[in-house]
Amino acid sequence: MTVKAEDFKKTLQNWASGVTVVTTASSTHGLLGMTATSFASVSMEPPQVLVCINDSALTSTGIAESGYFAVNVLAGDQQTTSNLFAGGASEKDRFASVTWHKGINEVPVLNDSIASLECEVVNQVRAGTHWIIIGKVNRVTCREGEPLLYFRTGYRQLTE
Ligand SMILES: Cc1cc2nc3c(=O)[nH]c(=O)nc-3n(C[C@H](O)[C@H](O)[C@H](O)COP(=O)(O)O)c2cc1C
Repeated sequence: MTVKAEDFKKTLQNWASGVTVVTTASSTHGLLGMTATSFASVSMEPPQVLVCINDSALTSTGIAESGYFAVNVLAGDQQTTSNLFAGGASEKDRFASVTWHKGINEVPVLNDSIASLECEVVNQVRAGTHWIIIGKVNRVTCREGEPLLYFRTGYRQLTE
């Protein structure tokens, strides 16, 4: 039995998540980053996380090339950043619109995110149209603040 694409999409829209921007620095393409909600923790010892990135996204090419990436967890007021990194701006303009610093292996880390995880790729598995990219976490940072949420095709804010 095959699930219809529209049913699959509609069902997944019921999954609420945070929003991240996954970044990398590629020697061929320079700074790359894209919005991704497909982030999950994988292992505690060693600390590992995963992101699922479309093979057609330039960021996936960059991560394969560099072997390093960062996951930046967006704050509640970073909806514009999410839209710009989801195709609303060119790669160059995406990074001009945020403040960032160079992390491990030159990977850009967004200053205003509420958390960042700097990772090195330990495994990359092809799954349909996407790559499941598993990274060992080498450095983390967190700050106070509310997260940006995504649910049923729209951004949401935490309310108590
Ligand atoms: C809220 C949101 C979540 C997204 N999550 C993912 C994701 O988990 N994986 C993915 O491959 N694309 C995801 N996208 C789409 C990419 O951000 C978009 O295709 C991006 O422009 C790809 O980067 P590129 O323009 O450098 O190719 C998401 C988009 C939005 C708005």
